[in-house]
Amino acid sequence: MTVTTLPGSELLAHMAAHDPSFRDRTAESLLAVEKRLLGCAADAPDPRVAELAGHIAAAGGKRLRPLLVLLGAEFGEPWRDGVVEAAVIAELVHISSLYHDDVMDGAELRHGVASANAVWGARLAVAGGNWLLARAARLAAELGQDMVRFQADAASELVVGQLREMTGPVEGEDPVDHFFHVASGKTAALLAMALGAGALRAGAPAAYGRALAEYGRQLGIAFQISDDLLDLVAPASSTGKEQGADLAAGAPSLPVLLAAADRRPAGAELRELLAAGPLEDPDDRRRALRLFEDSPAPAAAEAHLVQRLDLARAALDVLPPGPAHRSLHALCDYVDSRVARTVDAGD
Ligand code: IPE
Ligand code: IPE
Ligand code: MG
Ligand code: MG
Repeated sequence: MTVTTLPGSELLAHMAAHDPSFRDRTAESLLAVEKRLLGCAADAPDPRVAELAGHIAAAGGKRLRPLLVLLGAEFGEPWRDGVVEAAVIAELVHISSLYHDDVMDGAELRHGVASANAVWGARLAVAGGNWLLARAARLAAELGQDMVRFQADAASELVVGQLREMTGPVEGEDPVDHFFHVASGKTAALLAMALGAGALRAGAPAAYGRALAEYGRQLGIAFQISDDLLDLVAPASSTGKEQGADLAAGAPSLPVLLAAADRRPAGAELRELLAAGPLEDPDDRRRALRLFEDSPAPAAAEAHLVQRLDLARAALDVLPPGPAHRSLHALCDYVDSRVARTVDAGD
């Protein structure tokens, strides 16, 4: 595998375009992460587990979480032991959550290939996700108690977020507040952990670790909003995931909630569609999508996303300047322009 074909290299090129030596150094670390990541599954004690657990990692992905670990480490001594392993742990937790998420959502496509549940069925896909999480825990144990705590806390928050998404708002809970709790748990917790773990392994000052974690939290929520918008407006050819999967799964995302809250007749029609349950019929999904596009919701969701990115950028103020600081700002710009770019050209 060469650096140019490395999953994550596109994201890195975008973020560190103005710092070539930093970019090349980080690309080398990402290559080490990639080898270790694919090796984890390949070394499974049973070839069937190796095939199952390696399926989604081999198909690609942006490797956002490993990149965040490497960037967090830049605020300490990034050459220290355990930074690459922390990046592998973050991606293993992420990929494990994808196995489970695709079972929960009934999704058939991931990274442009058939999801694990589409290939082997839900029961094996769940087992594959469990094995990857166990592998992450084993790696964390090799790094010590702090990393075990980071990994366990992030995985726990992630699962609580997924669970809350499945159970929906509790009696009297505002659906939009509920969405933010879910996004904070299922997505942002792991981004915050990745940055904090990188800083920790590199021996960065605790105040830097806290600022990075806060940045990751806000970036993660913005990232989930961009992902939810893409679910509605971007074709599978550009995301590697089925368009409208969230509507089919029946878990209303922020953009859908905002469209359904609109007081005009289109909002009422969307509420009626959603009240009937998951939109399994493609015609219903197309109808919902048109109602969404004609509503103020795309702009309103974008405004929430921008607000979160402003908070993420503000969290960076206490960090020293340099290429990693610039890259974290560039990552905010990336999330900001992600929907427009993906719809135009592919991600
Ligand atoms: C997908 O995350 C799941 C969410 C948290 C929205 P990514 O978009 O980062 O996943 P990859 O890059 O396809 O692995
Ligand atoms: C799930 O959110 C986040 C995870 C914990 C994997 P989504 O359901 O929106 O993720 P995608 O769109 O399937 O990647
Ligand atoms: Mg999903
Ligand atoms: Mg999604």
